Amino acid sequence: MKIKKIGILTGGGDCPGLNAVIRGITKKSIFEYNIKVIGIIDGFDGLLSRNIKRLKVEDVSGILSLGGTILGTSNIANPFRVPVNNNDGGKLKFEDHSEGVLDYYKRLKLDALFCIGGDGTLTIAHRLVKMGMNIIGIPKTIDNDIFETDVTFGFDSAVETIARATDTLHSTAMSHHRVMILEVMGRNAGWLALYGGLAGGGDIILIPEIPYNIDNICEKVKERNLHGKRFSIIVISEGARSIRGRKVIKRIVKKSTDPVRYGGIGIKLGRDIERRTGLETRVTILGHLQRSGSPTAFDRILGSRFGTDALDLALKGEFGNMVALKGETISYVPLQEVSGRQRLVPLDSSVLVSARSVGTSFGD
Ligand code: F6P
Repeated sequence: MKIKKIGILTGGGDCPGLNAVIRGITKKSIFEYNIKVIGIIDGFDGLLSRNIKRLKVEDVSGILSLGGTILGTSNIANPFRVPVNNNDGGKLKFEDHSEGVLDYYKRLKLDALFCIGGDGTLTIAHRLVKMGMNIIGIPKTIDNDIFETDVTFGFDSAVETIARATDTLHSTAMSHHRVMILEVMGRNAGWLALYGGLAGGGDIILIPEIPYNIDNICEKVKERNLHGKRFSIIVISEGARSIRGRKVIKRIVKKSTDPVRYGGIGIKLGRDIERRTGLETRVTILGHLQRSGSPTAFDRILGSRFGTDALDLALKGEFGNMVALKGETISYVPLQEVSGRQRLVPLDSSVLVSARSVGTSFGD
């Protein structure tokens, strides 16, 4: 297909590796095909507020190692659900502005639009495809919870940060003979806690897929003490829950494309352990450090490959698809098979089985 002009947007929460994708698409477009590249500012917000910027080679030079996204992002902007300020203090109202976005896309004369994002962004992208827009999806998230791709870029960088934090906590935990809890991100998927916790030598890893039993956790901590290990490191997913309470600690941000915000379970767990065992417990919430900073080499390479291969897909006219990593190969899958679905840690995951074999408790 003859492509003369393309657009790129990054939506949802940022993650390391986004700039590698932007650079990959832009450089290949200009170097090999002389295609004009337009950067859409702040995700779908740029299409709603008509905020764009021409991208030239010099704009994407030197950005490979930068965290975040040079285009800016938003996890609120959704063309199908634009919050309207009614100023009456009443219920928040939403309007569908998707026709306006389609109109703008046509006025810009874009032959293709690359939407780099997680579940929320890809679901919106799929709806826009159905309205006639030529879109290619590119999966990103530190949470690694997107279907049909072996891994998303951003995950490896976040795992590295969690592993280092888990490692680092050991020295103070050992010195003070304390229980240290590290709460990590991931929404209701446990990939980050599992991989980061295993790599950092966590003694107990708690993930949403396996509701934990507080009795088993306390038992494990006490048993370690009896065997001379007078400290324990617990890595807990923000979306983890106990078999008793079963309720996840969360709050809802109505405006957002990813409305559920998790956080706080580590503090609850800390209180429960202290009360039951009498052992001093401290909690660290790793927060946005997991999403920030320079991407690992793996994420830079995966991001670059997703970017350049996404352009190939557009040149073949394969719109409505998302690039995906399958083994060593970059392939693609229909957005329809991805949108609205979430990939959780399977209970027979070989990583989970391996962690159990080295004595890691999952609190079950
Ligand atoms: O989806 C990525 C993610 O970092 C989640 O792991 C986390 O729950 C959420 O985003 C945090 O969102 P925000 O940056 O809006 O607080």
